[in-house]
Amino acid sequence: MVKKMSKLARAQNLQDLGALLDPFCRENFGVRGCLLYGLFRSYSAPFIRPLTPAGKADALPVNFAVGEGLTGRTFVRGESVIYNNPLANKRFNRDYDDVLHLNPDILGCYPFHDRKHQEVIGCLNLYWAAPRRRPARRRIAEAVREMEPFYRLLYLQREQELLIGMMLDHLLIALEQKDRYTKGHADRVAAYAFEVGKQLGLNPPQLAELRDAAHYHDIGKIFIDEKILNKPGRLNDEEWLAIRRHSVFAKEFLYKHRHGATLLPAIIAHHEKIDGTGYPYGKKREQIPLSSQIISVCDVFDAMTSRRIYRQGQKETAAKAVAALRQGVGCSHPKEIVDAFCAVHQAGLIDLARGRHHAKNGDLRAALIFYRAAKSKAQRCDPGKTDRRLILADVHYQMGAALGRVGQNMRQAKQILAKGLTYDPDNPYLLAALAQAHYFSQELDSAIRVARQAIARAFKPEHWEALGLAKQISGLAYALKNQLPQAEELLRQAMNIFQTLGKDEELAKIYDSYGNVLLRACRFAEAEVFLQYSEEIKLFHQDMAGLAITYGNLGRLHTYLENYEEAISFFKRNLAIAAAVPDHRGISLCNGYLARIALARECYDEAEEYLRAGQAAAGTPLGDFFACLTGIDLSLVKADLMAAKDGLAAAKKLVTQNKLTRFSVLIDTYTARIFSAEGRHPAARQAIESALKFSHSQHNQYELLPVYEAAGDIARAQGDFLAAVRFDKTARRLAKQYGLPKVSRRINEKINAEARRKN
Ligand SMILES: [Fe+2]
Ligand SMILES: [Fe+2]
Repeated sequence: MVKKMSKLARAQNLQDLGALLDPFCRENFGVRGCLLYGLFRSYSAPFIRPLTPAGKADALPVNFAVGEGLTGRTFVRGESVIYNNPLANKRFNRDYDDVLHLNPDILGCYPFHDRKHQEVIGCLNLYWAAPRRRPARRRIAEAVREMEPFYRLLYLQREQELLIGMMLDHLLIALEQKDRYTKGHADRVAAYAFEVGKQLGLNPPQLAELRDAAHYHDIGKIFIDEKILNKPGRLNDEEWLAIRRHSVFAKEFLYKHRHGATLLPAIIAHHEKIDGTGYPYGKKREQIPLSSQIISVCDVFDAMTSRRIYRQGQKETAAKAVAALRQGVGCSHPKEIVDAFCAVHQAGLIDLARGRHHAKNGDLRAALIFYRAAKSKAQRCDPGKTDRRLILADVHYQMGAALGRVGQNMRQAKQILAKGLTYDPDNPYLLAALAQAHYFSQELDSAIRVARQAIARAFKPEHWEALGLAKQISGLAYALKNQLPQAEELLRQAMNIFQTLGKDEELAKIYDSYGNVLLRACRFAEAEVFLQYSEEIKLFHQDMAGLAITYGNLGRLHTYLENYEEAISFFKRNLAIAAAVPDHRGISLCNGYLARIALARECYDEAEEYLRAGQAAAGTPLGDFFACLTGIDLSLVKADLMAAKDGLAAAKKLVTQNKLTRFSVLIDTYTARIFSAEGRHPAARQAIESALKFSHSQHNQYELLPVYEAAGDIARAQGDFLAAVRFDKTARRLAKQYGLPKVSRRINEKINAEARRKN
């Protein structure tokens, strides 16, 4: 046994171990298959994920929470369990417990412990067919125990690598704060280097290493005085010497860490020149690693084509930069690398990367200029070239997605994406972006249909991001169609994918959408947790526009809970950001919400002020719609029935013009209240009953409670006190069920007042 165990010890990481375990367990335990699960940590909570089994390298990520399925339960219980006939167990979950579809007759779950922190960090599942011979439990338990220290080592190593990766990213952010002229430099050089490496035929692990080295190539600048980094004009000799030391400084923290140490040689030599005149060591051609030579070319190109303090903010055109690179052939750079760079540049890939960079920073105009340049270069490329179509598809994807993200020019975005699909019909990224464009155009069914196509075509690891986006979009579309269970499921899957990918910013968006869906399902406590996760991430990344959205959602949450002080504070924070941008839609929506709160607190003058401020901002159909409703509320308070009716007509018009049919319940409720105020009681009754029926048929918890409350008020106005109490009691029950103590107390007072009146 020990001899065989040593085979496993060859594993360098958890993935390796997963692959080596399979033959080991088949041979030793007579299993049909096995699967190793590991504990992972994302921003919010730990989750479990199978470690890629052998031969299933492109299996899609299946993440689940600690406690879910039989496997997830092992992480909680911390002891090994053998299940006979697991498929009949009601806790069994096919997606989590039987990822490989082995349909076991016996399933054994064996946990791995980190005893120091008293935590289960992994689990080995063994799958047996009907036992010809019983698995020797003791022998298996012994083997697992023997494996445990080894597994723990690999696990800790992975945790450490993740931590150091995070630390490096944070250092890079700090560096960009210190040296504002290098903002985005690391990203761009990494993108260029990746393309050049591909052109030179590097394999995927080499490419990943090259990209990382390029990304961190200037990290040593963190040790250099801010005054020198930002000094305009020429540097004196001493300052110049200080700057030149940045490539060596990277050593200070990278050499201690396995992954960092592999990047070091490439980083240290990124300012060496092939004729030996570079720094820090004056190495010559053969002594300089290939990746340094690539990074050096990309670094020079980016330095020339972006604003730099020492050139008084001047930048060169790409053509001049390429010419300068050509001039340096033989002394600074080797010919084959400059040639590769030029080929990549001519294919449009450098422009594409530059466009992507601007799009990421929210500069759509600059992004589109580069995308158009990339497109015309790619079109001029040799038509026989196989990846020409792929490049063109990618350009169209980037253009369409950039337009789609800002939520304007949807028609143009859709056209561009459809054109992209003619180059690469099965491209899941194009399909996901098209689904998004449909979603933003309120074409929910088309969005779901196209997203489904994207999901069906996203089956490779490099498609995960598209898969996540497609699931997110269809989740959002279902949410708008009030099909909340589907929405929740899809958004959860999207969340899992982005957790696996470690994409914080995307994750934050999903937390928002997910929080929103939970809000509409009246699961307020859960909603708050996810919205807070989102807030944390956005605060860290200084994503102000994103924060405004989260604050708006938190404001709505607290409005519902009738925590008006908190709600006002969140809306005011949202408003401050919206006013700074300025974002008219945000301004109008925020003022609308603030007006509604003022109304609820019976501060009518204040409500009117907010309402006017919101109307002045002239936002979107949605903002205008809610402003109309608030206007009706105010008119009803002032008993101005004419104004209320005008408001209702305007609201109805907005609903039909903008396909806002999901608000028909609100329209019915307001119609009923106006009828009631006019004394037309039967008509009011009919309208409110239609609203109730519709809310029930749509499982729309979010609107159910206010509709019951309105129904109670209308019945009371009509003098039907029995019905009023019945409606009030239902409303009170709902408020209790949703965990809204203030609301249920308020309704309770109404019911008590009714009882007192009777006596
Ligand atoms: Fe540098
Ligand atoms: Fe650089």
